[in-house]
Amino acid sequence: MAKKVALIFGVTGQDGSYLSEFLIKKKYIVHGVKRRSSSINTQRVDHIYQDPHESKKNFILHYGDMTDATSISKLISMIKPNEIYNLAAQSHVAVSFEIPEYTANADALGTLRILEAIKFHGLEKKSKFYQAGTSEMYGKVQSVPQNEKTNFYPLSPYGVAKLYAHWITINYRQAYGIFAANGILFNHESPRRGETFVTKKIVSALCKIKVGLQKKLFLGNISSKRDWGHAKDYVVAMWKILQQKKPDDFVIATGKQYSIKQFVNLVCKEIKLDITWKGKGLREKAFSKDGKILIECDNRYIRPLDVNTLLGNASKARKKLKWKPAHNINQLIKDMVSAEFKSIN
Ligand code: NAP
Ligand code: GDD
Repeated sequence: MAKKVALIFGVTGQDGSYLSEFLIKKKYIVHGVKRRSSSINTQRVDHIYQDPHESKKNFILHYGDMTDATSISKLISMIKPNEIYNLAAQSHVAVSFEIPEYTANADALGTLRILEAIKFHGLEKKSKFYQAGTSEMYGKVQSVPQNEKTNFYPLSPYGVAKLYAHWITINYRQAYGIFAANGILFNHESPRRGETFVTKKIVSALCKIKVGLQKKLFLGNISSKRDWGHAKDYVVAMWKILQQKKPDDFVIATGKQYSIKQFVNLVCKEIKLDITWKGKGLREKAFSKDGKILIECDNRYIRPLDVNTLLGNASKARKKLKWKPAHNINQLIKDMVSAEFKSIN
């Protein structure tokens, strides 16, 4: 039987790298889209590319950009993939307040460009489409926990752009019969998480503080709560969503939430770093045993609007996809901490 062919936009990101590994294990041929940058941006997939068994044969990289309709259209018509995963995005919520127009172009119109290319090249029946939707679309949450029926209320240019992508995916599914599906994924982390997302920033800084390589960690709003899973588990859900008989939308989450402060405390417990919190609100600080300030707030990390709480209900995915997370928060932290110490030593 011929191998299935997947095309991943955003292959160089956290999820793109885990999804590539997962699909290659499933014997797919994986085409990935990377964008041009002045410094190397393929670190997360270099190990696949350099593997003599996979390189050139099963894992092929192409240049493209979500803001460039021609490159997207050309790749889709040339590859004619069985499955297209749109994981490419300007994915940082705080940054989306600084570059809202670019975020809308890449995250909202980028999705439209892929869907249009599928339609234009007559691939409606050939290419299934997965859209990387986000719990950030729930924003000012309208009910707790959030599921597929919860109303959206995005609070960031990123959330608004992703909401357009969500609805245009449904629109092309209904109008043109494309197998187009949305995953509404809650936060998911891993050792490969981008350095400026809060979990990675905390793990990285606290491990360095522990071994004397860093003095302080500056954070923003530590009272906000997130439902954090492991990226390795979440890419499995993406694939399962495209293996269904009919295209549909699914919330993917753990159903447990922790505040940023609780996450800090769990990491400190894991690495045996003694801290004591003092003060309230933005003045709250964490001190070492000998009274040094280790963690404090910096206004630069406070967003114009923040999503204070996210908690997902993934019972539809558990039932229909037979999906459930294999990692809990402690296993996630263990994985991130051990990778961090390896990279420091
Ligand atoms: P990530 O690590 O930031 O990866 C984003 C990917 O998109 C990278 O490969 C990046 O390339 C690429 N990209 C950015 N702008 C692009 C453009 N203009 N053209 C082409 N490629 C572009 O994000 P992630 O955590 O893997 O998340 C994957 C997707 O899921 C994203 O769409 C994100 O918004 C969404 N999502 C993530 C979470 C989460 O908690 N991780 C939750 C819900 C939804 P470079 O490597 O060159 O930067
Ligand atoms: N990044 C960051 N840096 N966030 C901080 C900091 C800090 O120094 N201090 C506190 N926070 C708070 C943020 O204000 C937010 O409430 C929370 O930590 C989580 O921030 P991020 O880790 O940046 O993630 P996010 O929830 O905003 O966005 C991530 O999850 C979304 C799914 O809900 C991203 O991966 C998005 O792409 C994804 O869609």
